[in-house]
Amino acid sequence: MIESDRLVSGVEKPEDAAVEQCIRPQFLRDYIGQSKVKEQLDIFISAARQRGESLDHVLLFGPPGLGKTTLANIIAREMDHPITVTSAPVLEKTGDIAALLTKMEPGAVLFIDEIHRLNNKLAETLYSAMEDFKFDIVIGEGPGAQSVRIDLPRFTLVGATTRAGGLAAPLLARFGITESLEYYSPEDLKLVVERSARCLGISIEPDGAMEIASRSRGTPRIANRYLRRIRDYETVKVKKGVITKDVAASALAMLEVDPQGLDKIDRRLLLAVLDKFSGGPVGLDNLAATISEDPETIEDMIEPYLIQQGYLQRTPRGRAATALTYEHFGRSGGNFELVPG
Ligand code: ADE
Repeated sequence: MIESDRLVSGVEKPEDAAVEQCIRPQFLRDYIGQSKVKEQLDIFISAARQRGESLDHVLLFGPPGLGKTTLANIIAREMDHPITVTSAPVLEKTGDIAALLTKMEPGAVLFIDEIHRLNNKLAETLYSAMEDFKFDIVIGEGPGAQSVRIDLPRFTLVGATTRAGGLAAPLLARFGITESLEYYSPEDLKLVVERSARCLGISIEPDGAMEIASRSRGTPRIANRYLRRIRDYETVKVKKGVITKDVAASALAMLEVDPQGLDKIDRRLLLAVLDKFSGGPVGLDNLAATISEDPETIEDMIEPYLIQQGYLQRTPRGRAATALTYEHFGRSGGNFELVPG
C-alpha cells in the first residue's frame, strides 16, 4: 500500500501546518513577484499605519491561483489586525453579512472571495457598510417591520474576483484601492518553486526549478502542486533525492503536461476548437458542452491563460484558434480572415 506522507489517519500532522505556513508568504517582503502591486500596497499600508487609520477597502483582481487570498492575509498581518475569511457563494441572507460585520473590531479585515458572485441584495447592503460604516437591519416582517441602523467599526473589506467586468459599478466604486494580479514570469515562478522546495525540505537544482516554473501556466498554485507531484515521482522512480531538469521533465510528461505547460484539459479545449469547429469561432456554451465542462470553469480557469499566451482568441462570435494553436498541434490550416483581431 502506498502511504501518503501528508496524512496520518486522515488528520493533518502538526508539521504539515508549519510547512503550509512556510509555503504561504506571511509578509509583503516574503511575497515574490507582482512588484507593482507590492509597491503600491506597501505605501498604502504604511501610510494608513502612520496615521493610525484603517486601510481603505481593497479589490484584488486576477485569475485563480495567483495569490489573492494570500495577499488578503498579508494585508491583515501588515496592518496588525485580525482577518475574517468568507466567500460570496456562502453568503445568502442579509443576516449572514450582518453577523460578520457586527463582530468586527476597528481596523479588522473582512475578506470576501469571489465577490462577483454576491447577490444584488447583499451587494446593496454592503454599499452603506463600506461607505458610511452603517448597516440597516430590518427587524420583523410585514407592516410592523422596523429598520434599525447599526454603527459599524471602521473595517477594511478586501474583495477578490476573477472577473474584472463582473462587479456592479456602485460596488466597484466603493473600493479605494484596486490591484490586478498578473500571471507570474517564469523567473519569478522559479523563485517561488525554490522557496517552496526549501519549506518542504526538497533538494532541487536551478534548472529543475526553471523546468517546473516554465510549465506552470504562470501560476504559483500550479507550480507548488507540480513540485509535490514531482517529488513523489522522484521518491518512487529515481531515488536520488534531487530534482534535476530531467527528473522534472520526465515527471511532467507523466503528468501529461506538455513542454509549453498546457495540460490535458487545455489540449482538449483547443483540439475541440480545431477539430470539431474547424478552428472556430465557436460560442462558449457550445464549446463547454462539447468538452463536458462548465462554461464558468472555462471562462475563469481554463481560457484566460490560453488567451494570454495567444492560443485562443475571444471574438464577438465566440472562441477561435490562432496560428499558434495550429502550430502547437502540428497542423496546417486555419482561416484567419474569419477572426478579427
Ligand atoms: N507561494 C505562493 N505564491 C507565492 C509568492 N507570490 N511568493 C512567495 N511564495 C509564494
